[in-house]
Amino acid sequence: MAKPKVFVTRLIPEQGLDLVREFCDAEIWEDELPPPRDVLLAKVADKEGLLSLLTDRVDAELMDAAPRLKVISNYAVGFDNIDVAEATKRGLPVGNTPGVLTDTTADFAFALIMATGRRIVEGADYVRAGKWKTWGPRLLLGQDIHGATLGIIGFGRIGQAVAKRARGFDMRVLAYDPYQDPAVAGVLGVELLDDMDEVLRQADFLTIHTLLTEETYHLIGERELKLMKPTAILVNTARGPCVDPDALYRALRDGEIAYAGLDVTEPEPINMDSLLLGLSNCVIVPHIASASVATRGKMAEMAARNLIAGLRGEPLPNCVNPEVYQA
Ligand code: GLV
Ligand code: GLV
Repeated sequence: MAKPKVFVTRLIPEQGLDLVREFCDAEIWEDELPPPRDVLLAKVADKEGLLSLLTDRVDAELMDAAPRLKVISNYAVGFDNIDVAEATKRGLPVGNTPGVLTDTTADFAFALIMATGRRIVEGADYVRAGKWKTWGPRLLLGQDIHGATLGIIGFGRIGQAVAKRARGFDMRVLAYDPYQDPAVAGVLGVELLDDMDEVLRQADFLTIHTLLTEETYHLIGERELKLMKPTAILVNTARGPCVDPDALYRALRDGEIAYAGLDVTEPEPINMDSLLLGLSNCVIVPHIASASVATRGKMAEMAARNLIAGLRGEPLPNCVNPEVYQA
């Protein structure tokens, strides 16, 4: 029997590709950059499976261009690049990769908390620039992490994993998540507040762990930044558009907040003329929170298993629209 044809939109780690190649007739896009839109639309024309990345827009137009498509498997926990409602309407299951990246992403959010609080990137730049002349009693003073108040916006898997790390640093942890059960927070020693503004007012560090939806688009904007302490630090490892970048620039420039650490930006990649790049109190890294060897490998395997299950007409091990099975 012929293997089902699939398109994989980038070189994911081998443990995923090996599985895909075993079960599928796979066409793999090997460039460093994503397939251009017209190429993507042409590639999916005869495919039954699509293994996509967060850089690929999977919308009605793409689904129209892929009449034989049976499954969309996204190599990410987030799925804002996919029109899930449209996929559901067409009976197409959509897979994602939750769980395996939770601790890796939480580690990284904590790394940004520490890098920004203790000005590690500025320190490294200072040494490289040959400015290190002596030990300085006032040199590069930052904010303590231990004992500080951490505000977590979005208290799902990753937010909770960050809270666990914060406890080891004796932080006070506040969280805001209208969908979360206060009992879950209580067990972790976290105060779940039902007023996000109160979390913003009290946080020394604020970290975002929401999905990107209409509700969370520019969730942190001018009004929210003005509520924060002038010493506060904002960390975003969720999705760039959860924060209004122009409002963030003004807040950092004018000292309304002290610092930001961004793993994600709006747009991605960031424009090289973004004013944020000119600020010494803003650390920006290229969307690498889940980027450990082990985790990216597990994500690849999970995405492959979702893809293969969909091709076989079996329920996806991790499906974001299980409603498709209720028809
Ligand atoms: C990466 O940002 C992901 O959603 O997995
Ligand atoms: C995960 O969220 C990542 O940043 O890759």
